[in-house]
Amino acid sequence: MQTVLITGARSGLGLSLSRAFLAHGWYIVAVGRNISETPDDVRTNPNTLLKEVELTDDASLRALAADLRDTPVDILINNAGIYDTSSVDDDGVVSTLNNITRVFAVNAAAPRLLADLLLPNLELGSERLLVGISSGMGTFAQLFGHDFETTSRGTSGYEATHWVYSASKTALNYGLLSFGVLHPTVKVSLINPGWMQTAIGGLGAPLSPDDCAAAIVELLLNHRARLPASRLVNHLGHVMEL
Ligand SMILES: NC(=O)c1ccc[n+]([C@@H]2O[C@H](COP(=O)([O-])OP(=O)(O)OC[C@H]3O[C@@H](n4cnc5c(N)ncnc54)[C@H](OP(=O)(O)O)[C@@H]3O)[C@@H](O)[C@H]2O)c1
Repeated sequence: MQTVLITGARSGLGLSLSRAFLAHGWYIVAVGRNISETPDDVRTNPNTLLKEVELTDDASLRALAADLRDTPVDILINNAGIYDTSSVDDDGVVSTLNNITRVFAVNAAAPRLLADLLLPNLELGSERLLVGISSGMGTFAQLFGHDFETTSRGTSGYEATHWVYSASKTALNYGLLSFGVLHPTVKVSLINPGWMQTAIGGLGAPLSPDDCAAAIVELLLNHRARLPASRLVNHLGHVMEL
């Protein structure tokens, strides 16, 4: 049985990814804060291992790595993330250093640190695949308006207003792609899931997290044929300009 570790598995896309992998017969390490509140179908599944982790807490990340020592992880999905305001429907602008730092910690620093800490686990796995759930908002292409996903939120300039979230995703991309340069035995792929109805995406989003998760799992299960290394793709596997 193969193992996938998913951060932010309690809700949103992470929960949908968890359900989709379980349905494909995978073992999942479901990582997140308040992870005991994960819905029953995932929480009580015998193929689920729940791990309580606060991504902004260094000790919590290191405890996870210690607990998982000698456990193969075939695919590591850095999915957890926070927006810079309450959701895409909130047009406020983040301006305090504390809040800015928190967004960068959750969205960029913790995913890279987790990859560093779990490198031995990835090396024990058969897929050696590290995934970052990123965003079109983190691309310079979208900032300058020359590669815009039709399912993205807003019009040109939106990502510039939400520069904290956008830049944290740019930093995520850099942190994970540079990990791949340092560790070429691990394949790194970045996926923009699209604008989904979740706590971040809001109710007006055109895509459901279940549909996006199904498409993403399809990509991951067939990654050797369908998922390019060191690139950003959308949930259907189309390459996006960084
Ligand atoms: N929704 C969209 O339209 C959209 C578009 C592009 C990219 N994305 C990306 O997709 C990913 C999943 O987001 P989502 O839309 O599913 O949003 P979501 O429903 O808000 O889920 C985010 C998950 O991350 C977890 N999380 C947040 N901060 C954490 C922390 N400090 N420690 C541990 N876990 C933490 C949350 O835990 P709690 O349940 O405890 O809050 C939640 O499970 C994110 O990386 C997001 O940036 C989303």
